[in-house]
Amino acid sequence: MLLEADDLTKIYVTGYGPVEAVRGVTLRVNAGEFVVLAGPSGCGKTTLLGMLGGFETPSGGTVRLQGQELNQIPPHELVRLRRTHLGFIFQGFHLLQNLTAAENVALPLAMRPGTPAQREARAHELLELVGLGGRTRHFPYQMSGGEQQRVAIARALANGPKVVFGDEPTANLDEDTTRAVLDLFARLNRELGQTFVVATHDPLFADYAGRYVRMRDGRLLAP
Ligand SMILES: Nc1ncnc2c1ncn2[C@@H]1O[C@H](COP(=O)(O)OP(=O)(O)OP(=O)(O)O)[C@@H](O)[C@H]1O
Ligand SMILES: [Mg+2]
Repeated sequence: MLLEADDLTKIYVTGYGPVEAVRGVTLRVNAGEFVVLAGPSGCGKTTLLGMLGGFETPSGGTVRLQGQELNQIPPHELVRLRRTHLGFIFQGFHLLQNLTAAENVALPLAMRPGTPAQREARAHELLELVGLGGRTRHFPYQMSGGEQQRVAIARALANGPKVVFGDEPTANLDEDTTRAVLDLFARLNRELGQTFVVATHDPLFADYAGRYVRMRDGRLLAP
């Protein structure tokens, strides 16, 4: 078992009282799965992903990555674990604007052993993989939304993560580009066995998911 969440809850304390964003979620993700987490705005998807990815502390319950409980890991080690074992793709790409596609992809490799030439070669290989072999020297502003998102996907894959988390990764894309990105996820999942956990409210994702998990009001619905 790769990822195990047990009875996860998250309560945000606000000036207007507590908000129960996640209310007792238990979820198992096996290595090689492509899990889509679907549900309406405000149902708790981002909050749940944040806890699964170790950057949001649960109010209750546990998350284990390969048996290791994230909450037990000291903060600096957790940052390291995230950087080396997990990949993240967000809505809006978060690419650095003054770096080329290849430089953006190579960023997470900076902490790893290897020469700059090796890192560059790896970045080119990843951009090739996402169909952007001809765009390595382009800056983000010189690329379309779909291309930028594919650069972000290549960057998320750079460290060979155990899990890639996506939060609304196609939110700014048109339907054709959304399908292209989903095809890419499906291919990486099939060919490399890459594990994905992706949150969305786009019903298009249902066609691509290995497992489709629906969420409402902080809870998972029965399959
Ligand atoms: N930092 C916060 N403080 C207080 N309440 C929060 C905070 N973050 C999220 N919430 C609340 O928690 C609930 C779940 O939010 P969350 O962002 O997880 O939903 P979501 O499913 O990702 O929605 P969307 O599809 O719009 O991104 C919402 O009611 C939201 O208002
Ligand atoms: Mg969200």
